[in-house]
Amino acid sequence: MRTHHCNELRTGNIDDTVTLTGWVNSTRDHGGVIFIDLRDREGLTQVVFRPDDSQEAAKLSHSLREEDVIQVTGLVAARLKTAEVDTTNAELPTGEIEIVAQELVIVNKAEVLPFQLDKELSNEDLRLKHRYLDLRRPRLASNLRQRHHITKAARDHLSDQGFIEVETPILSKATPEGARDFLVPSRINPGKFYALPQAPQQYKQMLMVAGVEKYFQIARCFRDEDLRADRQPEFSQIDIEASFVDQEDIIGLIEGMLSSMFEEARGVKVPTPFERLTWHDAMNRFGSDKPERRIGMEMVDLSTELKDCEFRVFSGVISNGGVVKAINAKGFADISTGQIDKLTKLAQEAGAKGLAYIQARDTDRSTWRSPFVKRMTDEEIEALRTKLNIEAGDLILFAADEWEPACDVLGRIRLEVASLQNLLEGNDELDFLWVTEFPLLAYDEEEGRHVAVHHPFTRPLKEDEEKLRKGELEGLRAQAYDVVLNGYELGGGSIRIHESELQSDMFTALGISEEEANTEFAHILEAFKFGAPPHGGIALGLDRVVMLACKEESIREVIAFPKNNKGAEIMTSSPGSATGNALRDLRIKSTYVEKPKSE
Ligand code: AMO
Ligand code: AMP
Repeated sequence: MRTHHCNELRTGNIDDTVTLTGWVNSTRDHGGVIFIDLRDREGLTQVVFRPDDSQEAAKLSHSLREEDVIQVTGLVAARLKTAEVDTTNAELPTGEIEIVAQELVIVNKAEVLPFQLDKELSNEDLRLKHRYLDLRRPRLASNLRQRHHITKAARDHLSDQGFIEVETPILSKATPEGARDFLVPSRINPGKFYALPQAPQQYKQMLMVAGVEKYFQIARCFRDEDLRADRQPEFSQIDIEASFVDQEDIIGLIEGMLSSMFEEARGVKVPTPFERLTWHDAMNRFGSDKPERRIGMEMVDLSTELKDCEFRVFSGVISNGGVVKAINAKGFADISTGQIDKLTKLAQEAGAKGLAYIQARDTDRSTWRSPFVKRMTDEEIEALRTKLNIEAGDLILFAADEWEPACDVLGRIRLEVASLQNLLEGNDELDFLWVTEFPLLAYDEEEGRHVAVHHPFTRPLKEDEEKLRKGELEGLRAQAYDVVLNGYELGGGSIRIHESELQSDMFTALGISEEEANTEFAHILEAFKFGAPPHGGIALGLDRVVMLACKEESIREVIAFPKNNKGAEIMTSSPGSATGNALRDLRIKSTYVEKPKSE
């Protein structure tokens, strides 16, 4: 239907007869002469309808409205450019030419749109309801295309390294990745359910036992968890597993792959190798296992300096084995009381008892505003001054608690302060880093047992293996690693357990009974008895990678048809109700109705 696309014609095409197709992006009426910008996915071309050139086409062009689909045939002409008048458009690649229309076919009319395509729209649900219109906007159209190129770069890189893409089932069995499963009732097996995969974790390990050696998959994953800007209930992973490898092999592979993906998207070379931090250092210095390092404000430990402090909040915590940590928010001494209250509330929501602060208005301590500074000795003040590099105008924030909660709370405060201070505005830097040596297990107070920090197939560090065998569970570290970019966890993986016995020990450590392990994980324990190679892998969140490459703040902007924050895909109204017949076929009696709470 067309000879060229709308971003193709240049001055070299002048006098050619061409046919273009696409959408009417805009129309202008200049005294009976109609100008339109015609758009297709490649770009824009101006078309002019003059009664002198074709009366019929010119007449018809008066009825054109935005987003009508048309086909135009005409002559490529130079736009007028003299000393007096310049009708060229330097911002358009096709801005030096226009099509003088000879024939116009209105292929399909468009009704008045529910929203204008050339304006930002804050009502996201309206955008999602008419996502097919939303996706016509240049930003989203470009995101979709970037996603394709970035994904292709990953596929090409992995394929070049000898990895083969293998698909694994979507109707599968529950895997313990830590989120809630989506269940699908089986009609043929009444009362039984498939689980949608939270990740293809066990299948890819089985592929290693099968001798595939190097596997990857752009895998759909499903997790029924609360949504955030960087989380969707269904998302895509670049899922990878390899045999006869160690942590260094996986890290090297991913650095190469990510740098080729970002080179594709941003046109810049990402320097490798990425820096590394152990989990302990990441928590200790930045209060997060996915540190955003570009904002500075490293956390400082003051437990030695403040152990005898008269301010009991500090010395009391320290004498009970806890720590006092602080950050210096440079130049933020003029923070408002409202903002302090907001930060304190945030700290309390994260489990802290409070948030101590000093507004160091000037250098002399007499000018410092703080609920407790008067109770500090000159030596203590000097120690703070030196360790935190306090200068006139700084704001110091403190957390006093056991080590991990203190780090965690101050880490959150640090990010919030950076956002209040707009520290990252216009910052395009890419700070890739690896976080390694994660704890293997964490104690879950509610459940009264240990849970796997990564997942139950993760291998302990060599030096901690014996302890796991013996059931000494405190402080075990894992051969697990996360790749982090600008404060986002892009991906995580581990070297796995490949021996039946060690895997059984791990299940025992997690309080999974032998009986349960033998029913839930029989396939793994059994497979490992038939010559399982040592193996390990990783999965990257593809949506997150594309989001960051496209400089977006939500993964919804890089997914064609995302769910909204209530888990609904509102264009097609999913999820929807099931009819009685469908439920009957599935042997599902009725929906569970929650009893109203008694007064
Ligand atoms: P993990 O659970 O860390 O590891 O997931 C890997 C990566 O997937 C992305 N991700 C998500 N992206 C969008 N929405 C979500 N709800 C979501 N959940 C996770 C993150 C995360 O880093 N099987 C292991 C990998 C392995 O051990 O090989 C796994 O799934 O970017
Ligand atoms: P108080 O003396 O209890 O009124 O507390 C004085 C200041 O210390 C207030 O700003 C509190 O928010 C703060 N504070 C209390 N407990 C802690 C804690 N565990 N860590 C940090 N600050 C705290």
